[in-house]
Amino acid sequence: MNDTTPSTRGTLQAVRGMNHILPDDAPLWLHLEDTARRVFEQYGYRFLRMPVVEPTPLFVRSIGEATDVVEKEMYSFEDKLSGESLTLRPEATAGIVRAAIQHSLTYERPQRVWTHGPMFRHERPQKGRYRQFHQLNLEALGFAGPDVDAEQIVLLARLWKALGIEDCVTLKINSIGDPADRRAYREALPAYFSHRVDVLDDDAQRRLSTNPLRILDSKNPAMQSVIEDAPRMLEQLGTDARTHFDGLRQWLDRAGIAYEIDTRLVRGLDYYNRSVFEWVTDRLGAQGTVAGGGRYDGLFESLGGKPTPACGFAAGMERLVLLLRENEQKAAPAPLAYLVHQSDAATALVWRLAETLRDAGHDIVLHAGGGGMKSQMKKADASGARFALILAEDEARDHTVTVKWLRETGHEQQTVPIDGLIAWLAAVAV
Ligand code: HAM
Repeated sequence: MNDTTPSTRGTLQAVRGMNHILPDDAPLWLHLEDTARRVFEQYGYRFLRMPVVEPTPLFVRSIGEATDVVEKEMYSFEDKLSGESLTLRPEATAGIVRAAIQHSLTYERPQRVWTHGPMFRHERPQKGRYRQFHQLNLEALGFAGPDVDAEQIVLLARLWKALGIEDCVTLKINSIGDPADRRAYREALPAYFSHRVDVLDDDAQRRLSTNPLRILDSKNPAMQSVIEDAPRMLEQLGTDARTHFDGLRQWLDRAGIAYEIDTRLVRGLDYYNRSVFEWVTDRLGAQGTVAGGGRYDGLFESLGGKPTPACGFAAGMERLVLLLRENEQKAAPAPLAYLVHQSDAATALVWRLAETLRDAGHDIVLHAGGGGMKSQMKKADASGARFALILAEDEARDHTVTVKWLRETGHEQQTVPIDGLIAWLAAVAV
């Protein structure tokens, strides 16, 4: 560090890869949140809010020690008082399962739940990939499926439609089998790859012994043909996993959902079994996965709970907002009116008027901070409001408002009695 390092002398900056969502960007976020919430509720999923910090072992035991997330992407720190290792959550599923076990959520009946919020992974930031990012996360706890697996995919298809991005995304599904199928497969993979070690990069060579499945996930172009020829999990499924996968396909076919079976789809977290799926787009460059999830029937047990089948997904909100923006969807809610006021008498009246209009259900911005008429009118215009409602000395004396149309042309400004304003708005503001 030197004297000009921003953190010691100059303006403080946000942490790299951790972004603001400023007011100009917020409408798309709110639109996404509102739409998702509506769709999730339609399917009976109930909201829960989770802590952002969890004990580190929770993630090590669930996501898996040999995954990228646990190996190198977690923000972990020691609690100064207790000495306990804590971690900013890199994902929500482990915490939700922890909460479900801790509060016996599935004791009486299965639960459909969802949450949203920030997650933290120390990745190299680029378009669509950040260190603090946000997920919509939905889980069905205590359901053996495959109907519920299909339900979540159908729900996402509905969300894409509601957001108007259904033409930008496609669905990939796969089955990674049950633990016994995976053990057999895991043994077959190193045998295959060890005959081709010369082609494997350092990461892959290391994974031969730690997590050979993850070799299949490599994006290294030099390894693609070897990966392409590797044995496929889908061809080695046991009977139960096979029946489950066939069931999922049947449900999706019935629902009219198009999908591609991607036998290379393995996901980056260790807790999955059977169904895995991803919705991908080709509009965002390298970071094309907008949602990913699957079944994790063993996770409750590995975190100390009773065996509880479960399935869920998370969708990356930044990526969805990028898609929405790309589609030029401007969900920009603007106030109906901006209240401009000058003179003490007008200012005294205008507060009550603003509250009365809000009581009537209108979105109203009341000018604050003083200033001349001209500068207030500029702000009225910038607010996106449809009307400026102007109260100066004359209007205050006469108990009237001067109404100016800010968006539509062909309207003269006019004077409306304050008492008749709500009726006037109801007549014109349709
Ligand atoms: P995941 O595939 O790690 O799954 O993440 C889900 C989604 O979060 C990704 O498809 C992507 O859209 C978004 N995402 C992940 N990392 C980043 C990042 N660094 N920057 C921006 N977006 C990102 C999970 O997290 C599982 N917990 C999903 C799940 C829920 N499985 C079962 N239930």
